[in-house]
Amino acid sequence: MTGKKVPPYLFIIVGGTGDLARRKLLPAICRLWEKNLSEFYLIGSGSGKKHDDQTYRDFVGHSLEEEGVDMSHIDSLDWLYYQSVGGGSLEEFKALADRVQQLEKKLNLPGNRVFYLAVPPSVFPNTIKNLGEVGLNKSGGEVKLVVEKPFGRDTQSAQGLNQLVHKYFNESQVYRIDHYLGKETVQNLLAFRFSNAMFESLWSRDRIERVEITVAETLGLEHRAGYYDKVGALRDMIQNHLTQLMTLVAMEVPTALEADAVRHEKVKVLRAVSPISASDVIRGQYTRGAVDGREVVGYCEEEGINCSDSRTETYAAVKLNISNWRWQGVPFVLRTGKRLFKEATEIAITFRRPPVSIFRQFSIKDIQPNKLIITLQPHEGFDLFFKVKEPGDSYKLSTQSLHFEYSERFGRLPDAYETLLLDVLKGDQTLFVRADEVESSWELYTPLLVPQNVSNGTVVTDHHEVYKYASGTWGPIEAERLLDGEKWCTI
Ligand code: BG6
Repeated sequence: MTGKKVPPYLFIIVGGTGDLARRKLLPAICRLWEKNLSEFYLIGSGSGKKHDDQTYRDFVGHSLEEEGVDMSHIDSLDWLYYQSVGGGSLEEFKALADRVQQLEKKLNLPGNRVFYLAVPPSVFPNTIKNLGEVGLNKSGGEVKLVVEKPFGRDTQSAQGLNQLVHKYFNESQVYRIDHYLGKETVQNLLAFRFSNAMFESLWSRDRIERVEITVAETLGLEHRAGYYDKVGALRDMIQNHLTQLMTLVAMEVPTALEADAVRHEKVKVLRAVSPISASDVIRGQYTRGAVDGREVVGYCEEEGINCSDSRTETYAAVKLNISNWRWQGVPFVLRTGKRLFKEATEIAITFRRPPVSIFRQFSIKDIQPNKLIITLQPHEGFDLFFKVKEPGDSYKLSTQSLHFEYSERFGRLPDAYETLLLDVLKGDQTLFVRADEVESSWELYTPLLVPQNVSNGTVVTDHHEVYKYASGTWGPIEAERLLDGEKWCTI
């Protein structure tokens, strides 16, 4: 073929006019296009009939400008096409199938297709079924299915969705997205752990006292009430992003950096987690306050939230115990929240203190433990905190740090979606969630979830405490209970 790194593909984004496509996928696809790695074409497929190819190109052009994408290297958008799937009927998917075949013929493409489901989760089943029923899952080339999160809303629905997917696609064709896995620092965790023997030899219950994983957001609902109020922080963030980070921190050394070897080790971690007790989960909901000096409303006052019955958690903290030889007894505390004090995504590893203090003036409790903080957001890098003697006669210890920041050394990092989309084209599933992995992850949290009737949108009242916290703080004070008297580590 063309000598490019990946073979030609036809990309079909179902939900091609939606928010995800506009803000994340199309900018990432354009950056890939710019790199000239592959010859690819794209059909945007939306629910409205308002576009034709040209108006879709205009729409994408405006969206890219709004997102600040540098268009100077892209001569034209004539590789973009539009085909509506309207209300999602079989007839409309047949029309999509005709369009795909027609374009493959016209552009002389070998039948390699990527279907990206950038639609609300309620639409996944119908879309997958229709793609299969009209035969779009079969061609002379490679066909791939990319499914956004959330994949299911509990164990049962995730299993049901997997069964449906496997009716039409083999697991080797399926790419379940967790965009955290595409972040450069998350991938660097593997390099950090498995190419620095120094750290790996410290990486266990013998040397580590506890692990905290924090994803703190300053943003609130951002007009997503319809989705978020039925979901909450446990489902939206903990079950996927934070749990993925936990598996990467805790996994054993894979036999190779290959999709199944890595995912196998991650599943083993999930299966080793002890059942989570209800007292090890703290939920919170933000009230009015100030974030970055700006007054913001409380969750209940957000547009689209019915204050009288919404007990949805916008904050969740969970303490987990991984019951295996490496980690038994080391608490892994995961916490996330919206409208918190500052934006920060961090993995904080607290090492054990020295067994005794030889410095007479300090008791062992006074010696702060070494900490390694891996920062994913807003700056990607890490800090290693250690003790030094302050110069002078008396023995005074002070904490210093070694600091590394990606952007200072390497410049712009690729966006997570750029990395993940390229991996889809290359057929590398390492950074995607396998069927058994997503089910194992739901199995951990399903017993803690609030039963909800989604079909008619009514929320069944639960008995969990949802603590209020003021916007602009670090969340409910009750969460400190999970730290057994210690303080949260944040830079
Ligand atoms: C999404 C959640 O998956 O991740 C959002 O649905 C959240 O609620 C977002 O804001 C956070 O992603 P990032 O990359 O900004 O940390």
